Amino acid sequence: MEVITTRNELITHLDRNNRNGRSIGFVPTMGFLHEGHLSLVSKAKEDNDIVVMSIFVNPAQFGPGEDYEAYPRDLERDMALAKEAGVDFLFTPSAMEMYPTDGGIRILPGRQAEVLCGASRPGHFDGVLKVLLKLFNMVDPDRSYFGMKDAQQLAIIETFVRDFNLRTEIVRVPTVRESDGLAKSSRNVNLSAIERSEAPGIYKALQHGQRMVGIAAPHEIEKAMVEFITQETSGKVDYANVLSYPNLSEAIDEDSEIILACAVKFSKTRLIDNIIMSTKDDTSCSE
Ligand code: PAF
Repeated sequence: MEVITTRNELITHLDRNNRNGRSIGFVPTMGFLHEGHLSLVSKAKEDNDIVVMSIFVNPAQFGPGEDYEAYPRDLERDMALAKEAGVDFLFTPSAMEMYPTDGGIRILPGRQAEVLCGASRPGHFDGVLKVLLKLFNMVDPDRSYFGMKDAQQLAIIETFVRDFNLRTEIVRVPTVRESDGLAKSSRNVNLSAIERSEAPGIYKALQHGQRMVGIAAPHEIEKAMVEFITQETSGKVDYANVLSYPNLSEAIDEDSEIILACAVKFSKTRLIDNIIMSTKDDTSCSE
C-alpha cells in the first residue's frame, strides 16, 4: 500500500495514462476505521482493479460547536487496517493540502438537505459535497463506495453525481452492525459505558417503527420511535422521521421506498441510524 499526502502525487499516480485501463474504486472516509469502512473496501476490491481510500476529517462539514476536535483519530492504526484490507493507495492529506485557498465558492444541495441531519446541521452537506468534488477530481474513480448508515448523505451524493454529470458511479453498501444491533460508527468510541449499553435502543426503536408501517400514519410512527428512544436511553432525540427515499419528502406513495431515520444526542456524541424499506412489505431492504 502506498501512502500519499499531496494532491500532485495522487494525481500523478492515478493519472489515466498510468492506469492502463485499470478501474479505480474509491472509498472516502474520515478515518478511525471500523468494519463498516472495511466492508466498503471489500466491495471496492470485488468490483475494481485498484482501490483508493482517503482519510480526511473534513473541517468544512462540521459546524461551530460540533465535534470536529473530538472526532476520533488514529492514523497509525488506520494505516495498518487499510493495508490489511488490501487498499492500494491511501490518501491522507492535511487541511492545508485540501483547502490551500478558499475563494468562498459553495455547493448548495437542494431540498434533500433541508430535512433530517441537514435541518440540525446547517451547511453540513455543503461541506460534504465540497470535499467530495475535490476528491473525485483528484482520484477520478470509476466507482465510489458509501455506507447506507449515512443514507441522507448517500441520497444527496447520488443526486449531485447525476445532476452534475460526474463520472463516478455511486455504490451503496449496507450498514454493518455490532452483535447487539448498534450501527458501527467511528463516533461510538465517544459513548460512556452506560450510553454504549443503551445505544442499541436506537436500532430497536427503528425496528419498532418498521413494524408499524402500513398500520399507523407516519406521524404516529415518529411519535412511537421518540417514545421508545426516550424510554430506552438517556440520549436526547434530535429527530425521528419517516420520509420517502431517496427523495426525502413527506409525500409517500405506494411504490416508493421509505426511510425511518433517527438521530440521538448523547453526552459527547450524536449517533444516526436508519432503516430503508418498501411500503409493500415489512422487511428492510437496503439499510
Ligand atoms: O461519510 C463520511 O465519512 C464523510 O462525510 C465523507 C463522505 C468521507 C466526506 O468527508
